[in-house]
Amino acid sequence: TKVESGKVKWESPSNIALVKYWGKRENQIPENPSISFTLSNCKTITTLSYQKKEGNDFSFNVIFEGENNEAFKPKIQTFFERIQTYVPFLRDYHFTIETSNTFPHSSGIASSASGMSALALCLMSIEEDLRTDHSDHSEDYFSQKASFLARLGSGSACRSIEGELVVWGNNESTESSDLFGVRFTEDTHSNFRDYQDAILLVDKGEKQVSSTVGHKLMFGHPFAEKRFEQAHENLSELKDVLISGNFKRFIEIVESEALTLHAMMMTSMPYFILMKPNTLQIINKIWKFRAETGSNICFTLDAGANVHVLFPKAEADKVYEFIKTELVAYCQNGHYICDTVGKGAKKL
Ligand code: PMV
Repeated sequence: TKVESGKVKWESPSNIALVKYWGKRENQIPENPSISFTLSNCKTITTLSYQKKEGNDFSFNVIFEGENNEAFKPKIQTFFERIQTYVPFLRDYHFTIETSNTFPHSSGIASSASGMSALALCLMSIEEDLRTDHSDHSEDYFSQKASFLARLGSGSACRSIEGELVVWGNNESTESSDLFGVRFTEDTHSNFRDYQDAILLVDKGEKQVSSTVGHKLMFGHPFAEKRFEQAHENLSELKDVLISGNFKRFIEIVESEALTLHAMMMTSMPYFILMKPNTLQIINKIWKFRAETGSNICFTLDAGANVHVLFPKAEADKVYEFIKTELVAYCQNGHYICDTVGKGAKKL
């Protein structure tokens, strides 16, 4: 390649799984399919500068929120090793990765989905800038390959390229793939448009169990096979629910998925309890509020103590009032983040 240097910039959001990915095989292949809402406000903004270099090694430096950062380097080194066969120019340039998040650093919100997808998209833009043959790529080439690369950085990152709902993992009832995320293109019922996600920060500490360790806990897990089967069933049904607009089943599937994820961690060896007392307080308050008001509010969880509160836009005033008066007390420093479903990553 003749290009000496250049610079590209992307912002890419986080996502929240409705049917959870937990368990993977070699090469970041998921053991079960998952589906997520793409978020909007929680995102990573990454600028990738590249400069022609000599030598055959990977060369890069990371600037996180304006400061030189060594801590992220091993993860990125691993990422580069995994993707090198698909990104042949990776050894030809020195890269400067300047990255920042819109959400606070130690908020307990995983930045791997937004961070890895932003980096994958930057690499795709460079691929495009360096292209000498101008044969047409298929329409989906760019986002599919970006998702494919993002998956190799962090599995769930492959669901952050597009919006508003993304399916990842082979499943008989969709044209999805284990290799990349695909948009859920069915006509989603208006009940589920502009869905809201209030992220209650119960515990902003470092994750007790990294997802790398977490996925490995599914090897030889006594309930693994049944769980993977269940995820297939839940995904199939959730797809129908998203079309029909059935709030009741939506709530049941989403909450059950969250609790099952945690049940898997409680029943693995070693075992973990990642919920905190305040997580349970919040869940009970949500159930009570729903029973008393007929609201369609529900919760979901990632591999941590924070609670994602999901609700339709039409209920936003009422639910935020409830959050402020009843749930904020259980958040660390009263901190929570208001997010909504979004349309995916953007080139800047
Ligand atoms: O992408 P990873 O390897 O960090 O795994 C994330 C797994 C969960 O967030 C717990 C569930 C999911 O599907 O996002």
